[in-house]
Amino acid sequence: DDITLKSATENNFFVGVAVSEARTNITAYDDLYTREFSSITAENDMKMASIFTGIDGSGNIIYDWSKIDALVAYAEANSLNVHGHTLIWHRSIPEALENFSGTDQEFEDLIEQYITDVFTRYQGKINSWDVVNEAIDDDAGTQWRNTLFLQRMGDDYVEKCFAFARAADSNVKLFYNDYNMTFDGTKRGKVLVLVDDLLANNLIDGVGYQMHIDYNFPSREQIQEATDELVAKDVLVHFAELDVKVNAANDLTELTEERSQAQRQRVREVVEIFNAIPQNKKYAITVWGLKDDDTWLIPENNGRPEWPLLFDASFDKKSAYQGFLEGL
Ligand code: G3I
Repeated sequence: DDITLKSATENNFFVGVAVSEARTNITAYDDLYTREFSSITAENDMKMASIFTGIDGSGNIIYDWSKIDALVAYAEANSLNVHGHTLIWHRSIPEALENFSGTDQEFEDLIEQYITDVFTRYQGKINSWDVVNEAIDDDAGTQWRNTLFLQRMGDDYVEKCFAFARAADSNVKLFYNDYNMTFDGTKRGKVLVLVDDLLANNLIDGVGYQMHIDYNFPSREQIQEATDELVAKDVLVHFAELDVKVNAANDLTELTEERSQAQRQRVREVVEIFNAIPQNKKYAITVWGLKDDDTWLIPENNGRPEWPLLFDASFDKKSAYQGFLEGL
């Protein structure tokens, strides 16, 4: 059985997995990360709050590069693409920025410095980044989520961050990433307007649709329509953060065969839709974790058990894994 997720895609696009530095250099993880996948994304280790640890007395940013360095080296040693996640996100703001008492201009200068420092350090090593994550409000009435970045840098802060990134390294592919894209047409419409605005200034290369979905929602037609609307734009498509919930109704205490097959079908549909995208627009499908017990959807966060990934707790392939292969 020599077929893997990676080999089955025939290098037409990256198959990514969310990793943490703490789970590398553990044989069972390494075997699957390097055998099955062609790209990694840090689930948390490349977020701003993980890297930007303070501001010193002279106003310079204090960095902890240890985990991001280790992951970049790991990728290099194992010929894995790196998709960076994420430069700017309202849920990963360093305390020193949260409490920053300088002027708005000084705040903005720190953001520019941060983006420039990250891009300079990893030049040629991180292929793409989610520059801004989840900036669009869920409320149908407003465009932007009200974040510290909006308050400090103004309504055009997203464009400013993309411009800082482009200026820092024009070879890095710049992505915007957000959730509920497949079924919330209003929110998606706002993202697509942002994409047009950024494209007009050559500031964006791709869009990530976060794929935190259910085995029975949204519909295949909804995912197809959302994908078609994105494919109509001149950007790369990333199906990011894929996991498939099977227990939203909390009717399971273990993964049943029936629900497992429904999940397999779901993964197959998602991969089929992605695979049908024109070749020059396919960037990656990234699963949000390796195995079911690594998921962020643990009962403590989620209120109920879930089995949303492609491998089970024993590192064995699930039916959902077969669904991925079938989708190709
Ligand atoms: O590592 C610490 C640990 O030392 C500490 O004891 C523990 C106590 O809370 O926290 C641990 O950190 C947690 C970290 O995950 C690693 O497990 C953080 O509290 C927790 O907030 C963090 O959650 C992550 C979340 O983003 C927030 O950053 C999830 O793992 C991660 O899957 C999730 O990913 C996001 C994407 O970045 C953006 N899209 C939505 C997606 C799901 O929320």
